[in-house]
Order: sequence, then structure tokens, then C-alpha cells
Amino acid sequence: MGTFVGSFFRPSKMPPSPAETPENETNPQTQDQLSLNPWEAAYLRFESPEEEIRKFIRRLTRLGAPQWPRDAEIVELFCGRGNGLLALQRLGFTRLEGVDLSPRLLAQFKGSAKCTVADCRRLPFADRSKDVLIVQGGLHHLPSLPDDLDQTFSEMQRVLRTNGRVMFVEPWRTPFLTFVHFISEISPVRRISSKMDAFATMTEYELRTYEQWLGQPELIKKMARAHFLPVHESFAWGKWNFVGTPR
Ligand SMILES: C[S@@+](CC[C@H](N)C(=O)[O-])C[C@H]1O[C@@H](n2cnc3c(N)ncnc32)[C@H](O)[C@@H]1O
Repeated sequence: MGTFVGSFFRPSKMPPSPAETPENETNPQTQDQLSLNPWEAAYLRFESPEEEIRKFIRRLTRLGAPQWPRDAEIVELFCGRGNGLLALQRLGFTRLEGVDLSPRLLAQFKGSAKCTVADCRRLPFADRSKDVLIVQGGLHHLPSLPDDLDQTFSEMQRVLRTNGRVMFVEPWRTPFLTFVHFISEISPVRRISSKMDAFATMTEYELRTYEQWLGQPELIKKMARAHFLPVHESFAWGKWNFVGTPR
């Protein structure tokens, strides 16, 4: 796998990505746990909550969510600060849950969905208990491919009802993504655009898992198809969009 983001981009001392940061689910959140790490701080300033909710509504609509029953039991995995859940809420869905490894990001969520601090490689749900599982920008944080991806997909298969749905939207190395990275590495661009600076900062801090993800497209597609039957798959604007049913 070649280096995708230029080496001058790499910070001298790189902290672990969120999935590599151990969390203690049973301890109450201390003030220290609630102070954001640099990746989390950049993620929060990349888009305003309203911009992000509108983006998620457009995406969910394009990928067919309006056709799902409004009382479907939906879980957003790797939900971060939960704006995907707020988008689903605005689309009229009522039975929503979120899962994320970061108590600091979940603490930002102000909606009504039940959110749980957990590792998506071991989902805290019963077999065949959910109708829809959504992942937007979480799989590329998994520390070890292919094992973690296989484990996460197996867990999703276990938890989904037989007629359930999965939806993944993850980064993909299209010409657009290459262009955006090229632009975001230009220092004056980072100085004038806080969005580009946040994007470049997130990339720096998640570089190892991000490059691992972008460098194995065939393996990822094969693994997704081994667990889920695709209903829709597209690659556009730097994203892989996959909607499927469990096999
Ligand atoms: C790029 S963010 C995406 C957040 C949200 N889906 C969005 O689009 O705004 C990735 C999220 O994955 C979470 N995460 C990373 N590894 C995880 C794991 N193994 N289990 C659960 N969440 C994880 C991080 O805490 C972070 O909130």
C-alpha cells in the first residue's frame, strides 16, 4: 500500500486514532475523559451541526431511507456526536439508537436516541434485534484489517433481522478524494479555510487506519459482499456507498 497523503503531512508524534484509544465503559465519565483529543476537536469543527444534519438528510434520502418504515429499529454505529441520529429523527424515524467508542463525543449528543459507549466490534445487542444498521465514516477507523472488519460485519449480521438493512458510507480513493487531499495539504489553504484545516488535521491523526482502509479496496468490497447482499453500491465524490441485506 503506497502512502496516500504526502509524507510532509505526517506529524512527528502521532496519537492513536479513536478506535485505538482504550475506553473504560464501566467508569463514570471524569472531566479528564471529557476533554477532547485533537482528532475529536477537529471533527467537531469540520462542519457545524446543522450543516452535518443537512448533509446526512440528503445522503439518507438518496440511499433510500424514506422508503423504510418509520418505526424500524435503527442503530447508527460509530455515531460520533450523533448528527446522523438527528437527521433520522427529522426524517420521522422514532426508534433510534447510537453506539460510539468515545464518551466525549456522545456527551455532545442532545437528541432523544439512546446512545451507548461501546466498541462496534462487540455490539451490545441481542441476535436478530434490529432492522437497520448504519455506519457513516466509522469502518475506516478500525485498527486492524481485515480481522476487525470481519468481526464488525459478523456482529452486524448477528444483530440484524433477516429482512434488515445495512448502509455504509465510507471514504474511497476516487479522483475527487485525491484532489481534496492535495488541496488540503497546501498551507495557505489551511490558513484561510478552517474546514480544510480541520479535514487535514483529522487525516493526520487517523493516518494509519485511513491509509490502511484506502489501500485495500478489493478486500473491503469482497468482505462486504461476503456478509451482505448489495442492494445499492456506488463510488462517487470520495465515498463508497453501500446498502445491503444480510446473507
Ligand atoms: C469519523 S467519526 C464519524 C462519526 C459520525 N458517524 C459522523 O459521520 O459524524 C468516527 C467515529 O468512530 C468512533 N469509533 C472509532 N472506533 C470505534 C469502535 N471500534 N467502535 C465504536 N466507535 C468507534 C469514533 O469515536 C468516532 O466518533
